[in-house]
Amino acid sequence: MREPGGARCRESARERGALPQHLHSAPVPPGPQVDDRQRSAVPRVAIVLGAGSGIGRATALRLLSGAYTTVLSARGRDALEKVAKESGDEQNAYVVPGDITSPEFRAELVEKVARRFGRVDVLVNNGPGPAPGPFDGVRVNDDVCAAMHQKLVPYLDLIRSVAPMMTRNEFGRIINVVGNIGREPLPGMFLSGLVNAAMSNASKYLAGQYAGHNVTVNCVHPGTIRTPRYDQAVHHLSRDGGVPRPEVEDRLVRAIPMNRPGQADEVAALIGFLASDEASYITGQQISADGGQLKSV
Ligand SMILES: NC(=O)c1ccc[n+]([C@@H]2O[C@H](COP(=O)([O-])OP(=O)(O)OC[C@H]3O[C@@H](n4cnc5c(N)ncnc54)[C@H](OP(=O)(O)O)[C@@H]3O)[C@@H](O)[C@H]2O)c1
Repeated sequence: MREPGGARCRESARERGALPQHLHSAPVPPGPQVDDRQRSAVPRVAIVLGAGSGIGRATALRLLSGAYTTVLSARGRDALEKVAKESGDEQNAYVVPGDITSPEFRAELVEKVARRFGRVDVLVNNGPGPAPGPFDGVRVNDDVCAAMHQKLVPYLDLIRSVAPMMTRNEFGRIINVVGNIGREPLPGMFLSGLVNAAMSNASKYLAGQYAGHNVTVNCVHPGTIRTPRYDQAVHHLSRDGGVPRPEVEDRLVRAIPMNRPGQADEVAALIGFLASDEASYITGQQISADGGQLKSV
């Protein structure tokens, strides 16, 4: 986890402007100048991060089935191509593999999409979270910065890169997949809670900034969702605590009023709605899909 802390935290020239200047100023084909509540006549272009598995995969499949031109990104090309094929709509799926924690890749991703489609209507920020662990184990000078660069910095960097296209088109949907522990800290998950809380605050700020251009910014908070990440977490809890896997799962489920983990599709349904033209008056919100797990009002 050790990163050359200071160096990693300093903003590079590249990071200051992920989208090259010529693309910022390039004319963008006009978006639908319509009542936002009507269905767009122009196919929407969506970028979905983490589209190879779990929530990102379910979101990409949902958007493709809803006639969005969908850009699928994650590190593994094979998984993305599998999702594109599975959708049955490969011609509207554009696979751009890479590591989203790399500023160079983020710039490349937005530039490729801008060049190919000239627009981005929907951004689903769905990136990797920091490793679990309690505060006592955190090397504050290094680990906090590294955690921010894993999720917060990529999300903000991509928002800043696509926002000029969205505001110019007077339409945009930015959905940040975050997590309940930014709202209710959970023992042993210090860095995830910290990063998620920062992202929720930033989303509220940005929602205010872009609202006048019909660009919405919302956070979706998955509860306990059965994905490969969930399976890994159960495995670690079982191994580290010396507790059999079924018992770990029982404990997790007992904290959920609906008595079951969620499915990735159930989170994707919420993301799909927030991405839609119909969700035109919802911005700056923190919405959980968690079977009632969040306790706070
Ligand atoms: N599942 C839950 O219970 C839960 C709860 C709360 C919050 N969340 C949040 O929901 C989001 C998605 O979680 P999930 O459960 O769907 O995870 P998942 O099933 O593990 O999927 C993660 C996806 O992200 C990609 N990815 C991982 N590291 C990457 C990197 N450095 N660059 C680019 N892509 C990367 C993975 O593909 P590659 O490995 O091929 O890159 C994969 O496609 C995360 O932000 C997580 O914190 C999940």
